[in-house]
Amino acid sequence: MSPAKEIYKCFGCGKSGNSISFLMEHEKYSYVEALRWLANKYNVEIEEKETSPEFKQQQQVADSLYIINNFAQQFFTNILFNTDEGQDIALSYLRERGFNEEVIKKFQLGYNPSAKNSFTKAALDAKYNIDFLQKCGLTTIRDEKPQDNYRERIIFPIHNQSGKVQGFGARIIKSNDKAPKYINTPENEIYIKSKILYGSYFARLAIDKADECLLVEGYTDVISLHQAGIENVVASGGTSLTPDQLRLVKKYTNNLTIIYDGDNAGIKAALRGLDLALEESLNVNLVLIPDKEDPDSFVNKVGAAAFKEFIRDNKKDVVLFQLEVALKDAGNDSNKKSAVVNQIAETISKINKTEEFTKQQDYIQQCAQILKIEENGLHALVNKFIREKITKEENKISREK
Ligand code: UTP
Ligand code: MN
Repeated sequence: MSPAKEIYKCFGCGKSGNSISFLMEHEKYSYVEALRWLANKYNVEIEEKETSPEFKQQQQVADSLYIINNFAQQFFTNILFNTDEGQDIALSYLRERGFNEEVIKKFQLGYNPSAKNSFTKAALDAKYNIDFLQKCGLTTIRDEKPQDNYRERIIFPIHNQSGKVQGFGARIIKSNDKAPKYINTPENEIYIKSKILYGSYFARLAIDKADECLLVEGYTDVISLHQAGIENVVASGGTSLTPDQLRLVKKYTNNLTIIYDGDNAGIKAALRGLDLALEESLNVNLVLIPDKEDPDSFVNKVGAAAFKEFIRDNKKDVVLFQLEVALKDAGNDSNKKSAVVNQIAETISKINKTEEFTKQQDYIQQCAQILKIEENGLHALVNKFIREKITKEENKISREK
């Protein structure tokens, strides 16, 4: 990089450009994100084009929420490492689960003490606004008094694409039937659940390098895999993927590998987002973790090397996997079997971009073989679904006119 000339050239790969393209390439920022980052770094004020009063106000609220979350994260981390309660209850719990200090610090984990309002009091003393504290989900009103919402819980900060804390997951330490295992930040100006992939800030460079994104369910899965040296991993929070989350993955790679528990709920959750992922032109593979383990417990049990080997050897194409599961379900019932044929044809019809022609052909061929049916027949059925979709879209457009 040549700061004076404001250009860079990579002697490894030969890429070159200016500071904006450098940030876009290396930090995976969008053009606008790169501009904002530079402006902020050099204290340049940028005027955003869209400056309606509502937009401005929303930006101001967002800024305030980020500032509060940053304060909260530092408060919780300080409690975790530097108080007796933090060390005895929370740090010892994390250590027992096998997390080392380095990874705890990297993910900025923390602890909210058991007293009713130690965080809220500190925040109010520091003159933070009570309405915003509530908006952030950090403070709640109980018995007409402001109190901490995440009392006696381990705090997992959730970072946005530029590393700022946009929300938290708060895990109970001693499991309890009455209380939920995790409490998460409520939806607000900066925490929009459908757009969040936990860990994406820490994973983005590794995803780009590996040209593959691993998807797991939980916070602890992401952190344990990082500790094991597997950094191209993000978590969905246990729900099926949304279009925004899939687009986030696509910024970095076309190859998505879903690593879920082998139980039925895990498989269903994995398959639910499949058609959407195919429409986004992602190549989706699936790895099921055996024996009631999850990626966190499994990597702790078998170690990093064996875990990587397991992933490599058990990766299944998710379209073919879906077909196998459905066929097994159908057994010898011929009605059910034709439903399966229809379902797989519809799935394949989602792969419909011109550059994916071969991919679609390959699927038709392989699925016809598994189903023991004529390839031409399946082909015709796939085309029928494609036509139906086009007709539906045309109708929608003419209705909107
Ligand atoms: P899990 O129940 O599998 O938890 O939920 P986990 O991540 O393995 O956590 P540990 O290992 O028991 O500590 C998977 C994910 O689903 C979301 C969280 O994002 C969690 O990481 N979840 C789960 C909630 O949001 N709320 C809940 O009450 C439970
Ligand atoms: Mn777990």
